[in-house]
Amino acid sequence: MALHLGDVAPDFTAETTDGKLNLYEYLGESWGVLFSHPADFTPVCTTELGMVARLKPEFDRRNVKVLGLSVDPIESHRGWVGDIEETQGTALNFPLIADPDHSVADLYDMVPPAAENNLTVRSVFVIDPGRKVRLVITYPASTGRNFDEILRVIDSLQLTDEYRVATPVNWRDGDDVIVATALSDEEAEQRFPKGFRKLKDYLRITPQPNR
Ligand code: BEZ
Repeated sequence: MALHLGDVAPDFTAETTDGKLNLYEYLGESWGVLFSHPADFTPVCTTELGMVARLKPEFDRRNVKVLGLSVDPIESHRGWVGDIEETQGTALNFPLIADPDHSVADLYDMVPPAAENNLTVRSVFVIDPGRKVRLVITYPASTGRNFDEILRVIDSLQLTDEYRVATPVNWRDGDDVIVATALSDEEAEQRFPKGFRKLKDYLRITPQPNR
């Protein structure tokens, strides 16, 4: 069954390139990004895994643990890891799940009913420290993901969990934000000492409060 925002991320134990791993133990108190690949030894996936390995310091800085999945067996992953290091200039520095029986892929509904050859699509799940699913994105197999966008959404989620704000179109960390519509002007004045610009009753802009 498809997972929705706010659902509890299902726990599982799986074989990975770093050995047997339990999702909840791996995540601990951290945020998580679980993302799937159609298959090993495929070009787009190879570039994606290299990029996530390069971005690992950015995920670490946000207290996020990353976890990839491809349905091919672990022996296949071990061969592919060498290709990723050779072609992408960085070693894989996070676990990659081997899921040949599709148990994790089915749990997270990563194989659409119309999929050819039972391939997983490029699913992304962001999981918060309370184990709730906070973002679901699905890309087609032929389109590599933009992991800067995933980091941007995590920045927004972490900010809006802490402050009564929302983030506007194309927002990036450091940009102005939107005061939550549920707050009165008086409450907004108290919560946002830097002030706010009122464009409409429902559209009030304030500097990012933790900057
Ligand atoms: C790729 O990673 O390049 C790929 C995988 C499956 C289908 C199409 C492209």
